[in-house]
Amino acid sequence: MSVLSEQVAALAQAGHEGQPTQVEWRDGVAFLINAFWTPRQRQGHRLHEVSYRACFKPQLPAFFIDRLTRPGDLVHDPFMGRGTTAIQSALMGRRVAANDINPLSAMLVRPRLNTPDQASVLARLAEIDWQAGEAGPGDLLSFYHPETLSRLMALRTWFADREASGRFDTVDDWIRMVALNRLTGHSTGFFSVYTLPPNQAVSVKSQDRINERRGQVPPLRDVAAIIARKTRALLVDGGLSAPEALICTGDSADTPAIAEGSVQLVVTSPPFLDIVQYASDNWLRCWFAGIDAQAVPISMHRKPEDWVAFVRRSLVELARVVRPGGHVAFEVGEVRGGSLPLEILVLEAFQGLAFEVECVLLNVQDFSKTANCWGVGNNALGVNSNRIVLARRV
Ligand SMILES: C[S@@+](CC[C@H](N)C(=O)[O-])C[C@H]1O[C@@H](n2cnc3c(N)ncnc32)[C@H](O)[C@@H]1O
Repeated sequence: MSVLSEQVAALAQAGHEGQPTQVEWRDGVAFLINAFWTPRQRQGHRLHEVSYRACFKPQLPAFFIDRLTRPGDLVHDPFMGRGTTAIQSALMGRRVAANDINPLSAMLVRPRLNTPDQASVLARLAEIDWQAGEAGPGDLLSFYHPETLSRLMALRTWFADREASGRFDTVDDWIRMVALNRLTGHSTGFFSVYTLPPNQAVSVKSQDRINERRGQVPPLRDVAAIIARKTRALLVDGGLSAPEALICTGDSADTPAIAEGSVQLVVTSPPFLDIVQYASDNWLRCWFAGIDAQAVPISMHRKPEDWVAFVRRSLVELARVVRPGGHVAFEVGEVRGGSLPLEILVLEAFQGLAFEVECVLLNVQDFSKTANCWGVGNNALGVNSNRIVLARRV
């Protein structure tokens, strides 16, 4: 009969409302099923609150960091996205390594690991010459009032000048991160007229249709005031100082900056097949940041066998950087209405590598807004559950 290891038995005790964990054995692997952390929104530190497609909640990395590492250990995420693992690790006093193929991620994550104080941000906002913007691309007038667009252009000019003169600092980095998060949205807290959230920028054509349907024209927005307000909100629980964090841009299978055997824990979540269109979702953010979104080779795999090969390549690299006895918590969501269990494919990808799979954790919850990161209803494509393959480096 199969027996749970001591460590896995301890995880099985961890249901957040005291309900017992259901344990099912499938092909010799223990599947632990429970609500392991709260499904409630906004339970994390406010620094996490930037939107990103298919992000997980901070409770997920917190669960593993708490149980599988000690303060000072190095925690890594090769697919960092908005940096949930990185930020949570730093908040819990762990050292940080993180990587993403899209340069946008580093712009979203690095400034929140090295936060400026509010006064410096306000002073810098007052220093910027908001009249210095050249005319912006005409298409963008579907989203922005001409004066708002001109201020956004001035901000881009400011960053370019600061970079060119070597004066771009953590305050500029912060302001750019906040601006990236305020580009488009559905309230007056964003620079744009009503549209989808900033992690799902619609095309110009779709925006024209939204404007027509709603009978709206882009109103003037106070760019500096919006940045100041979001700065206050993000810093309300305090800031972070982790200048030694290792933030990389590149393929998950090739992270030479991370030393062999240096990582105690990986908490990560790859792109799920070809479900999320990261390039088109992020086109406006990439425009603002000066990134050619189409040139970023984001991994998209329609066929399960291609996806397994891609995951395996990343795991080979993780076998290099994770120290013996360290762990990988590899999360996948529910795709294709639950008909394709990605965790089974992840188990396949682990086969023959220097890891021992300890269990699969299925975190189930009734309703999750994180699921709506996908922009679909919970019962269609949604991620009602997190499925995490937990493996130990042998
Ligand atoms: C599911 S998201 C990760 C979200 C993250 N867990 C969070 O909470 O923000 C997957 C990420 O993988 C990145 N990505 C896609 N292909 C990649 C590759 N080959 N190497 C590294 N990152 C990649 C995407 O840009 C995206 O940010």
